[in-house]
Amino acid sequence: MELRPDTEIVHGGRPQGAGSTLNHPVVLNSTYRAGGPRGYGRSGNETWDALEEVVGTLEGGEAVAFASGIAAVTAVLDQVPPGGAVVSSKPIYMGTWGQLEERAAQGRIEVRYVDIADASGVLDAARGAALIWLETPSNPTLEIADIAAIAAGRDAGTRLVVDGTFTSPLLQRPLDLGADVVVHSATKLIGGHADLLLGLAVGDAACAEAMRAHRTDYGAVPGALEAFLALRGLRTLAVRLERAQANAAAIAAFLDADPRVARVLYPGLVAHPGHAVAARQMAGFGTMLSFELVGEPERATALCQAVRVLGHATSLGGVESLVEHRGAKDWERRMGTPPGLIRLSAGIEHPDDLIADLGQALAAACGG
Ligand SMILES: Cc1ncc(COP(=O)(O)O)c(C=O)c1O
Repeated sequence: MELRPDTEIVHGGRPQGAGSTLNHPVVLNSTYRAGGPRGYGRSGNETWDALEEVVGTLEGGEAVAFASGIAAVTAVLDQVPPGGAVVSSKPIYMGTWGQLEERAAQGRIEVRYVDIADASGVLDAARGAALIWLETPSNPTLEIADIAAIAAGRDAGTRLVVDGTFTSPLLQRPLDLGADVVVHSATKLIGGHADLLLGLAVGDAACAEAMRAHRTDYGAVPGALEAFLALRGLRTLAVRLERAQANAAAIAAFLDADPRVARVLYPGLVAHPGHAVAARQMAGFGTMLSFELVGEPERATALCQAVRVLGHATSLGGVESLVEHRGAKDWERRMGTPPGLIRLSAGIEHPDDLIADLGQALAAACGG
């Protein structure tokens, strides 16, 4: 029986049969007795399998777990042939951008930067390219790419990769829209509790085989405990998303109405340039937003230092709301992120407490 995603995340990947444990155990093990299907722990682990089974089913492909999101990104970028062109926007997650820049500086790849919100511009730039990298919504500026339009218009040999970290498999299914590979930092929404690092890459069987070979050969293996925790986090993703998305929408509306706020970037706002595409390709507008204050960029730092309920920290996708003055980071400036940009990850607290906290932090940073 085919289950809805909200049910699949609860029941998938569990041992079956009388007397079996309900949860897949944490298999802490480095080697297997000879003669069976498994040999050495770097090639596979039963706890990874349980997580991969659920995420693969949700995405409609085969999932491979890695030690971190950036390890999954690395495994995908390592598939680009020498001299191949990669099309991407910027700003994107700084670790991915850093790899693109470094690989280009070493002459290993060519990078063509585009505006991912402009599908025809992406397609023009992607002629003859090896890979299109779409981080949608993008980190930290929440740009939206039309995955289906780009998938349909690209050259046959151009691989389309979507970083779905901001959506999780429950809000966007890129493989259904024509993408070849989806990567996730499961450190974020999938794990959901800021207590683990883990990554996932999902594609067809051939892609998964290449990903698994990369993981085994280069060693970016997840810990069994991390895989267990990621699956435990995933079990509650649907309900976490419900509250966190409602909080994000409420915060976006609150900030948007405040004269001390210059601009709010949230795909759920009708004025967001990617709103229509997001409404079509996402099952919800997500838990992330960014905003800028009127006045000096230093006000953004002051706001982040003034919050008391929200946390002031990097990262995102957890039960706890976080803010960060992303625009103050050197690498963000180099990617073109506005200097005053604050990124906000909405958690699952009561919305009134979050809005009251942001209200007092706005007063502390901007007066009024
Ligand atoms: C969009 C995106 N992709 C990839 C990563 C890398 O994931 P990890 O920190 O799990 O290595 C991050 C981390 O913030 C991210 O935001």
